[in-house]
Amino acid sequence: MRIASITVLLAMALCVAVFGLAYVEAPSGFDGLSNGSVDQATMDAAHDQFAEIDNVNIDGLGPLFNAVSCLDCHQSVADGGHSQVRELRAGHLDQRGTFVAATITLNDGSTVGPRSLINQRAVCPEAIGQLGLRENVRALRLSLALFGDGFVEAVSDDELLRISRNQYESTRGIIQGQPIYVDISEGTRGKRIGRFGWKDQHASLLSFSSDAYLNEMGITNNFSPTEATQTCNPPGVPAPNNTDDIFNFATFMRALKVAPRDENLANSTEAQLGADLFDFVGCQTCHVSTLHTVPAGTKLNGGAYTVSSAIGGKVFHPYGDFLLHGIGTGDGIVQNGPQNTRNKIRTMPLWGLRTRVEFLHDGRAHDLYEAIRSHRGEADAVRDRFDRLSTAQKTWIVRFLKSL
Ligand code: HEC
Ligand code: HEC
Repeated sequence: MRIASITVLLAMALCVAVFGLAYVEAPSGFDGLSNGSVDQATMDAAHDQFAEIDNVNIDGLGPLFNAVSCLDCHQSVADGGHSQVRELRAGHLDQRGTFVAATITLNDGSTVGPRSLINQRAVCPEAIGQLGLRENVRALRLSLALFGDGFVEAVSDDELLRISRNQYESTRGIIQGQPIYVDISEGTRGKRIGRFGWKDQHASLLSFSSDAYLNEMGITNNFSPTEATQTCNPPGVPAPNNTDDIFNFATFMRALKVAPRDENLANSTEAQLGADLFDFVGCQTCHVSTLHTVPAGTKLNGGAYTVSSAIGGKVFHPYGDFLLHGIGTGDGIVQNGPQNTRNKIRTMPLWGLRTRVEFLHDGRAHDLYEAIRSHRGEADAVRDRFDRLSTAQKTWIVRFLKSL
């Protein structure tokens, strides 16, 4: 038995002893089958809503929007995945150096904002607006895959805080992921640590769905009842009628399995050496391999969501910490966090990495070496250690990355 497996067994024994709970691996696959949180028919119906193409007159698409269905931007390599779609965000710094989200003037002379998301489509020319010169902080962001996000939603705030503390202690304060507390649209009690989006702007998949339905597709719903503009606002459907839709989006995402590894590659000697080196140089400080979900029955999201037995008590391997870091790639935009998050980005979880073509939040890197070379700031020392590896050792790390 390999030392690693013995360590895993010991760790599991410890978990059972301490928490009275053995964690089970979260199911993986790009197969469109439910992870067990709902039956297949329910997942399929929820998927149909996620894939539905909305139009202006019946569904109330617009007046401002970016695409006509969730699937439009979340489809590679299977439904619920990522895409090449990039969204535009913008704003400016005021005299005190505080970030202010953009206000843009539409072609009909009315204004939209302050709002950092700049919609790239509209249902009529009057509702199009271009960025003025003042809005000179501009950023593009790629869409993200949703595989396994139901498990991410069910990680406790305490586990994320523990990771942040460990980072601080193990690097003498050089690396410390920043948690931000965000509102839960559907909950009645308090906030949670954000974990979704490049800026950790949401903690709940239902809150994200509500936000995306309004901001990506211009469709109002109970938790996001106000259109960004009245210009060319289609009569559409009153907000409450669209609230079932956002529950369906959340149900579909919560039923997705985690991204599977390429097992052949993962079992190759090179990739295994690469995995050890990945830990050794300190990549795993931020790209944390293993997280856990809370026990089944736990109520999350301000009491609005009860974790099922298919989601609770699971262990999974996102290779991310879901915390914000300054690694010199920051996009200058403040979303739901404080001003000091302006140039921070959530550690990109590396699960499913082999399915991606462009890397970093704006897709500026087109191969893995380029992505790694971009790591500065908090990641300086780690990147230095990577740079000092031999060419062969670097290749092994990349083999490992391609097994994810
Ligand atoms: C026009 C493209 C587009 C459409 C349409 C779209 N999304 Fe997204 N989605 C994105 C982008 C871009 C991001 C990354 C956003 C960010 O953090 O800036 C994202 C991120 C997400 C995330 C966070 C994933 C994670 O792991 O952090 C969720 C959840 C999500 N979208 C759900 C939805 C749902 C549900 C719909 C349909 C209502 C939808 N999206 C429609 C582009 C899109
Ligand atoms: C201090 C935390 C930290 C450390 C240490 C770190 N990373 Fe990252 N990594 C990040 C963040 C944050 C991003 C996202 C940056 C962005 O998109 O602007 C990222 C992105 C990446 C990406 C791009 C993934 C994608 O799909 O876009 C790769 C690949 C990557 N890291 C590999 C590594 C490797 C290999 C190491 C070790 C040599 C490492 N990282 C060390 C925080 C870290």
